[in-house]
Parts: sequence; C-alpha cells; structure tokens
Amino acid sequence: MSSFHSASLPHDSAALYVTGQAQFIDDIALPADTAHVALGLSNIAHGIITDMDFSSVLQADGVIGILTHHDIPGKNDASPVFGDDPIFTSGRIDYHGQAIFAVIAKSAKQARKAALLAHITTTSLPPIITIDEALAANSLLQAPKSCVRGDASQALAEAPYHLEGVLRLGGQEHFYLEGQAAIAIPGEMDGISIFVSSQHPTEIQHKVADALDVPYGKVTVEVRRMGGAFGGKESQANLPAIIAALAAHKTGKPAKCVYDRDEDMRVTGKRHDCKLSYDVGYDETGRILALDLRQALRCGMSFDLSAAVADRAVTHADNAYFIPHIKVTSYLCRTNTPSNTAFRGFGGPQGMAAIERIMDEIAFALGKDPLDVRLFNLYAEADSPDAGQLTPYGQPVTDCILRGLMGDLAKTSDYQNRRAAIETYNKTNPHIRRGIGMTPVKFGISFNKTMLNQAGALVHVYTDGSVHLNHGGTEMGQGLYTKVRQICAHEFGIEARDVHLSPANTGKVPNSSATAASSGTDLNGMAAAKAAAEIKARMTAYLAQLYQCDEATIHFGDGHVAVGQDRITFAEAAQLCWQGRISLSSTGFYATPDIYWDADTMQGCPFYYYAYGAAVTEVAIDSVTGETRILKTDILHDAGHSINPALDIGQIEGGFVQGAGWLTSEELVYGADGALQTHAPSTYKIPACSDRPVSMTVKLYESGGNKAETIHRSKAVGEPPFMLSFSVLSALCHALSSTAKTFPALHAPATPEAILRCVRNEQS
Ligand code: MTE
Ligand code: MOS
Repeated sequence: MSSFHSASLPHDSAALYVTGQAQFIDDIALPADTAHVALGLSNIAHGIITDMDFSSVLQADGVIGILTHHDIPGKNDASPVFGDDPIFTSGRIDYHGQAIFAVIAKSAKQARKAALLAHITTTSLPPIITIDEALAANSLLQAPKSCVRGDASQALAEAPYHLEGVLRLGGQEHFYLEGQAAIAIPGEMDGISIFVSSQHPTEIQHKVADALDVPYGKVTVEVRRMGGAFGGKESQANLPAIIAALAAHKTGKPAKCVYDRDEDMRVTGKRHDCKLSYDVGYDETGRILALDLRQALRCGMSFDLSAAVADRAVTHADNAYFIPHIKVTSYLCRTNTPSNTAFRGFGGPQGMAAIERIMDEIAFALGKDPLDVRLFNLYAEADSPDAGQLTPYGQPVTDCILRGLMGDLAKTSDYQNRRAAIETYNKTNPHIRRGIGMTPVKFGISFNKTMLNQAGALVHVYTDGSVHLNHGGTEMGQGLYTKVRQICAHEFGIEARDVHLSPANTGKVPNSSATAASSGTDLNGMAAAKAAAEIKARMTAYLAQLYQCDEATIHFGDGHVAVGQDRITFAEAAQLCWQGRISLSSTGFYATPDIYWDADTMQGCPFYYYAYGAAVTEVAIDSVTGETRILKTDILHDAGHSINPALDIGQIEGGFVQGAGWLTSEELVYGADGALQTHAPSTYKIPACSDRPVSMTVKLYESGGNKAETIHRSKAVGEPPFMLSFSVLSALCHALSSTAKTFPALHAPATPEAILRCVRNEQS
C-alpha cells in the first residue's frame, strides 16, 4: 500500500448543508396520500391502564385510524437487545411519555391534535424517579457487578492518606437538530422500504421485520444522513420506524412518523445521569494506592443499551492512571423514566469523571499542582521500559503517549505560569475568580462487545472509470462518508470526487453494526479499502497479461495506470478490463483482530488501541451571580495519521463544546411525578455560539501514527474529545477552591445555581 496523504477535503455534504439542499427524512417527497402518524403518550410515570376510549380520536378531522398493541402482527418490542421495550404498552405504564397508541391521519398536525383526544383511564402506582430512590428500593436491572484488581479494602486500610466523596453528573439530551423521523413505503409481496434517521439500519430492519412478522429479507432500510445523532439514534430510532411500518402495513400507503421537539425530548432516552461514590487511598507524593468506586447509573424503565454503557463506564474508571488496587462496582438503577441510551462516549465520560475529580482533590489536600499529581499517576509511556502496565480489566497499555503529549501542551499553553498568575489574582479579586485545569483522556477504541467489530463494503468500477462505493456505516455529520471516499480513491489512485458514495442500505451491505463507538472509519474504511484492493488486484493481473508485462511494473496513481512503458487513464484501464470480461465489482469485509471481552468477569482486551488527548481550560466565575465563562481552551489530541485533519479538528471542537455543555449548562429536570420539565430549548440550555471558549486552539499531536494496524494508521476521533471537557470542571473547581479551606463539592452540571451553592458553603 503506498503511503496515504492526509487531505483536508471539505465534508461531502458541506455545500448542501449550508444551502439547505441536504435532504433529511422530512424533506423526502412523498405521494399526496401518505399517512402521517403521531404518538399518544402516557401522562403518568407508573401505573396500570384500565380503559382506553378512542371514540373522539376516530371522529377527529383527517383521522384514518389508530394503532395499539392489537395492531402488531409480530413482536411488540422496540428494544435493541433485551426485549423489554414495548412498542405500545399493553397494560403497564413505566414512564411519563411512554407510547400507548398512535394516530394515523392525513396530516401530521391532524394526527397530533387527535392524539390528545383519547381517554386513557389509569390507576397510578408510586414511581421510582431518582438514583437515590432506586438504590434505596434496590430497584436494579441486574445484580451489581464489580471489576476487581488486587485488594482494594486492605490497601485502603493501609494507605497513609484517604479521601472519600460523591460526584453527581446530570444526564444529557442529544439535541440532534433533526429529530427522530422515519418513512415506510409498502411494496409488493409484503416487501417494505424504510427511510429513517438512524445510526443502525440493520437493527431497524430486524425490528420492523419482527413487528410485521416477515423475514428480514422483506425489509430494506436506507439511511442517507442524519442531522446529528450523537448516540441518540443507535436504538431510539427503532420506535418511529416500527410505528411508520405498522401504519404502512395497516393502510397500504406510505406512512411517516416525525417527532416534534417536545415529544422527542419526552419520549427518548438520554445520557445516563449518575452518582459516583469513591474511597481512595494515596501517599504523601500523591500516588494513588487504592480505589473503591461505586458507579450508579440511572437507566430508566428498561435496559436499552445500559449494560454496555455501564461496562464502558467501568473500563474507563482508571482513565489514564495506573491504580494498583481497585474495585469498581456498577449499579444499573431501574427507574420510571425514559430508557437511557448511548450518548457520545457511551459511559466513558461517566466512568472517568470520578478519577479526574480525585486527582484535583488529592492535589488540593497535599497543596500540589494537580498536573503534577496527574503526571505522577499516568500509565507508563509507550517507549518506557515499564510500558504495558495492566488496566484493572487486564488489558496491557502499550501505546500511552500522554506524558509527552501533556508535557508539550503544558509548555505551549504556558500552563504553570498562568496557574501561578491566577492564584495571585484570586487572592485580591474575590468577586471574579479564575481557574485553570488540565485533564487527559485515554479512551478505548472498539465496541466492548467483540462481535460488533465487523464491517462490510461494496465497490463497483464502471467503464468510464467512475467508482461507486457503499458501506454499512452511516453519516451523522461526523464526516465518515468523506473519509471512506478518500480511502477508496487512494486505493485506485484517483480523486475522491470520482468515488460516488450511495446511502447506507441493508440491501447492498448486510448485517452491519451501528455506526458507533467512534469506529466508523476504522471498520468501514478498512472494508472499503479491501473491496477496492480486490478489484485493483484483478485489474492488475489482467493488464499484466494484456500488455505482457510483470505485475510489479503496474502502478495506479494520478488517475492513471502505468503499465510497463505505457500509461493509460484509469477509465481506459476499466474499459479494457470490461472488454476482457473481468469483474469490476467486489465486496470487502473487515473484523478487528486481537480483541476479546468477558462481560461477566469484566476482564479481557476489549480495545484494539487507545485514543489520547489533553486539554487546558481557563475559566472565570462571578461569585455573586454564579455565572461562568470559558476564557481559553487549548487542546492537543492524537488522531494518529489523520485521514482528514479538517474533519478531525471539527470533531474535536464539537466534542469538547458538547462536553462543556453537559458539564455546565444542560440540565434535565424531572418532577416528582416523573414528567420531564425541561423538554424544549427554552428550558434546556445547550451551548450557543457565545458559550464556546473565547479563545480556542486545537492541534493534532504528531505521534507517528497509530501503533495498531488501523486504516492508514489513523485513530478514531468521534467520541474521545468529548471527555476533554473535564478540563472545564477541573478549572471551575480550581476557581472555587483557590481561596477556600475545603475542596468544593461541585457537581455537574455546574450551573450558576450549583456554583453559588459552593460559594455559599465556603462562607458558612
Ligand atoms: N459528529 C457529528 N457531527 N454528529 C454526530 O451525531 N456522533 C458522535 C461522533 N461525532 C456525531 C459526531 C458519536 S456518538 C460517535 S460514536 C461517532 O461520531 C460515530 O461516528 P464515527 O464512528 O464515524 O466516528
Ligand atoms: Mo456513539 S455514543 O457510540 O453513537
């Protein structure tokens, strides 16, 4: 393989996005008789349905019919794994906003209006809403599980210094700009086509087929793009797709189900909020000797992906640090709230939050710079003799580059001098206080569940030299399609613009995994490269025969093929091969090697490699109003040998800002009745342009490429930068603690109210 040149090509839909021409589900032109579906939702969190009266609904304008659990020919289940998410509840209500029925009408507005006319009689049961309520009632989805190395309780007893604490982190709404949306178009002989905004076309195919009671082969699912997903369309797109399919099945007409924003926020699961309780033992140098950590996640009314999210939280409890004796216990709290789901980082952020807090607290207790405590506890560097220290789950860390990376960042960001200046400033400025924090990220790449780490691609070369590419990955804005086109073009030595990528489609590339775990390019890029390499090998063999030359003299590059002394265009080569009756179409398949994971013992080598990065953030807080501002963020992140630096930097910026929103301003408030009170942007504050750091620099770290044999030695970049936002929380704690006697119990989101609570505590 000749060496790959990184190229900052623009996102392949960039022009379409900014001119409003990119088609999302709601933009697809449909016949005038298309049926529109709206959900009928529960307005209690827990209870039993005793009667359903739809007479007023059926008389309302434009109504074609209703759907309840009686209208499901097959399985009444929308869940990704465990079979525990009914499409329509058949009796018990488990959360406020649960779907009980749906209305099919001539317009979406008519369907929505009519849905409000149903008379649903219920008997309420007491709901369990919060993590503390669930823990008190032992309401868990499964027995608590621990990942253990050494003897944490004995090492804690023997450690010279101790800390214990609790850190609470709020949930997070995905707030993708395009809401959940699906279209179902019925075809001949029970066939059905689904167009949906989903990260997981294959799962949609399975769930629709199971609900309609038809074989998977009857269902074709296509995803051109999503207007953002962030994990929120890994499993949560199942429900609208199944409901559209049921409506199409019932009416024989195309049917469409598009949530409005309030509905979307009420119905769908979010990032798991959590309660992290820790006991830590350390020595006078700040070295951590032992950690006992309890992670309690609010899962909602069913599993959804919570078991996998919790596993990732456990496998990220160490973040970047070697902890000799450790016990991490995971509690999956079952509550009467929407079933929480994947969200960028997939439990990793919740996992690493505690250890980052602990670093700050130890430094405060010992009067040290937290950066020194962090550097001291890092996993041994890849090039040091101690490389290969084991994680608590037994995977050797052989590729750590954080000591070098953090050293560089400390220097370029002038961290030490700025920290000293801030401490002096805070002594004389009690009103506006400043703080600075540097935090690293080590994030495991691969799905924890080994079987998911596979991908397929399909490549055709046409006789004019244009190339058609399809793969199982989906485009949600991250730039996957652009990167895989670049990879495919490189194989043939042609321009990326000559590779035409068609939408992910279960009829073209089957049995795909969700595009998730940041591994879209690693998996699909490799599969596409293999498909292209197969065709290229056939072309090479044929041309060598035709020109009577050695295969080794044939080179593809610059849109041409050099064949011995001759040079023909790639199009001419394709034409010649076609005339010679050579197949110019191939599939490609890739499965990540060398990984395994035992979810029961929580041991294994689940990750093919780790992605690394670090951020320095400076903040200011107004100690009178509690308002905060991110003044400056400098990020150094390792994307390996980047396929597309512009897209990678975009992912880093976006991930960081989304993380900062989670930790500072985005607050989900559920009432005691389980109703979500913050179900619109008026009350739920995602970061606005004005909330990004006043100054922000992002640089890719020159690491010499991935040590693992990924596609062109690149590294996954979709999720890891999200967790660089812990530098914001660390900086806020510094601002609050620099003049305090005790470390602030600052929980996330660090809203102005939360900041003020800390300031008041200091004064009391
Ligand atoms: N970037 C954009 N613009 N929109 C998204 O929805 N999702 C994130 C990340 N970056 C997302 C995004 C999440 S949760 C994941 S897992 C990865 O992209 C998935 O894509 P990849 O595997 O191709 O990186
Ligand atoms: Mo991303 S949370 O793995 O979809």
